[in-house]
Amino acid sequence: MKILITGGSGMLGSDVVPILSEKFDVVVPDTNEMDITNREQVFDVLGSQKFDYVLHMAALTDLDWCEDHPKDAKSVNADGTKSIALACREFGAKMIYISTSGIFSGKLGRPYTEDDVPKAANVYGQSKYEGELAVRETLPLERSLILRVGWLFGGGEHDKKFVGKIFQKMRILPKVQAVSNILGSPNYSVDIGNVIRGMIEKDASGLFHIANTGEPASRYDLAVAIRDFAGFDTEIEPVPSSKFPTRAIRPPMEAIASVFLDKYGFEIRHWRDAL
Ligand SMILES: NC(=O)c1ccc[n+]([C@@H]2O[C@H](COP(=O)([O-])OP(=O)(O)OC[C@H]3O[C@@H](n4cnc5c(N)ncnc54)[C@H](OP(=O)(O)O)[C@@H]3O)[C@@H](O)[C@H]2O)c1
Repeated sequence: MKILITGGSGMLGSDVVPILSEKFDVVVPDTNEMDITNREQVFDVLGSQKFDYVLHMAALTDLDWCEDHPKDAKSVNADGTKSIALACREFGAKMIYISTSGIFSGKLGRPYTEDDVPKAANVYGQSKYEGELAVRETLPLERSLILRVGWLFGGGEHDKKFVGKIFQKMRILPKVQAVSNILGSPNYSVDIGNVIRGMIEKDASGLFHIANTGEPASRYDLAVAIRDFAGFDTEIEPVPSSKFPTRAIRPPMEAIASVFLDKYGFEIRHWRDAL
């Protein structure tokens, strides 16, 4: 089985690529070799060998930067995804697209499932949702897999998100602040990699939410869990999100749950165990 992977140098990729490499023949072009905004280059690379799958993780992921650069966000996250989908259709590869819990408005008082209707609250979320639509309108359901993931942690030194940052801060600071009024689903990149591998082995298709299980968590909850686990004695102050104004709106509820994973026999551990 030969798999082309985009975004392999990113936070998620740094854990997923080694997991897939154990089992499959993977090809991981960097941005110079395949810039997904260059449709000709995308077709050249996908047409250069017979790929069974394309795992598409490349994206612009900085929410505030995307908010200020909506054209770039659309060009990479939506149009770039469209190019990959078109090339998959042309050359007969099955496509796996990594999407995000950030496509929902966050107004629901419970975790979002695959049955809920997306309505993004910011440019990043909208561009990722347009990426989903591009996959759906280009490829038949049985030739594509859309996987929405939650708040990533993992990737070792590539962890540029909350868990990586707060861990480093709590090592050295006596006190930190963490936002307590926004909820999400913490999601370990290694667990995502294992689910992707299992889905390829089972030839799964369709749309799945694949965050770690467990109660929705705020960044404050995560910080407390890390402190207890790591044995730090840092004081953690819960603060509202208004304390850290951001250019992109953060939906108040970003947690996701799956109504479909059980059917395929996939089990994902609790985020506290993964942490
Ligand atoms: N991080 C999260 O919490 C989170 C949550 C939900 C969903 N996701 C989704 O998960 C996926 C991976 O996220 P991540 O956090 O690993 O992202 P990341 O660390 O920001 O890495 C992004 C990757 O995309 C590549 N890339 C960006 N623009 C490109 C272009 N024009 N052509 C080719 N490659 C390009 C980057 O390559 P360079 O290194 O060369 O720039 C890098 O390998 C994304 O699809 C993201 O939307 C992430």
